[in-house]
Amino acid sequence: MEVIRDKAEMRAWSRRMRRDGKSLALVPTMGYLHEGHLSLVRSAQAHADVIVVSVYVNPGQFAPSEDLSTYPSDLQGDLQKLSQTGVVQAVFCPRNLYDYDSTGPLAVPPRHQLSAGSGEEPAQISCIEKESAHETWIKVERLEKGMCGASRPVFFRGVATIVTKLFHIVEPDVAIFGKKDYQQWRIISRMVRDLDFAIEIVGSEIVREADGLAMSSRNVRLSPGNRKQALSIYKALSEAKVGVSKGRILSQEIKDSIVQTVSDSGGRIDYVEIVEQESLTPVEKIDCSVVICIAAWFGDVRLIDNMEIDAP
Ligand code: PAJ
Repeated sequence: MEVIRDKAEMRAWSRRMRRDGKSLALVPTMGYLHEGHLSLVRSAQAHADVIVVSVYVNPGQFAPSEDLSTYPSDLQGDLQKLSQTGVVQAVFCPRNLYDYDSTGPLAVPPRHQLSAGSGEEPAQISCIEKESAHETWIKVERLEKGMCGASRPVFFRGVATIVTKLFHIVEPDVAIFGKKDYQQWRIISRMVRDLDFAIEIVGSEIVREADGLAMSSRNVRLSPGNRKQALSIYKALSEAKVGVSKGRILSQEIKDSIVQTVSDSGGRIDYVEIVEQESLTPVEKIDCSVVICIAAWFGDVRLIDNMEIDAP
C-alpha cells in the first residue's frame, strides 16, 4: 500500500494506474477510521480495480465555532487498518490541500493560531476564506439549504469544494460515499451530474454498532452517559419506521414523537426532517420514498443519523 502525501505525486500515481488499464475507486474520508469507513472500502471493491482512500481533515468545511480543533485523528492507526484490509492500493493523506505554493509556508495556519470570531468577520465565515489564497467554492444551491446546511452554513460548500479537488487530483472512475451523511451523498451526486464529472457516485449503507448507534468518528468524544442517551436516535428512528408500516404517515406527528424520545433521553435536537429521498424536499405525509434525517447534541457532540423508508 502506497502512502502519498503530495498531490502531484498522487495524480501521477493515478495516471500510471490508468495507463496500465486499471479503473480507480476513491473513498474520501477525514480519518479516525472505523467499520463504517472500512465498509466503503469493501463496497469499492465491487466497482474498480484499484482503491484509493483519502484521509484529510478539511478545514474548509468547519466554521470557526465548530470542532475542527478537537476532531480526532490517528494517521498511523488509520494506515494500519487500511493496510489490514489488504485491498487498498494507495492512501492519499495530504498535509494541506489549500497550500498552492509547495515551497512556501502553509497558506492556512494551524487552527489554534487563528483568532476565530475575534474580529469583524461574521462567525460563519471559515478561516480559510480569510487566510488563504483560496477563493473558489462550489455550492449546490438548493440541496444544501436545509438540514445540516441550515445548521452549518459553510459546511457543504467546503465539502463540495474539497471533494472536487480530490476528484481532480485522484481522477477516479467511481467514488463511494456513506448514506450516514445522507445530504452530503445527495449533494455530491447532484454536483457530479450538474457539472458533468465523469465519475460514478455510489451510496453505501449505514454501519451501526451492535446497539444501533451509527458509527462515527465523533462517537469517541461521547461521555459514557451521553453515549447511552445517543441510543435514543436509533430508537426514535426505528419506532418511526414501525409506525409508518402501521399507517402512521403524517410527518408532523412522526417528527413530534422523535423529538420527544430524543429530548426525554437528555439529547438536544438540532433538526428532524422527513424529506423525499432524492430531492430532499420536506413532505407532509409519507406517500413516497422518504428519509427521516436527524441531528442532535449529546453534551458537546453533535451526531447525525437517518433512516430511509421506501414508498408504502
Ligand atoms: P468522514 O466523516 O470521515 O466520512 C467519510 C465517509 O464515510 C463519508 O462518505 C461518510 O458518509 C462515511 N461514513 C461515516 N460513518 C459511516 C457509517 N457509520 N456507515 C457508513 N458510512 C459512513 O464525510 C466526510 O468524512 C467528509 O465530509 C468528506 C466527504 C471526506 C469531505 O471532507
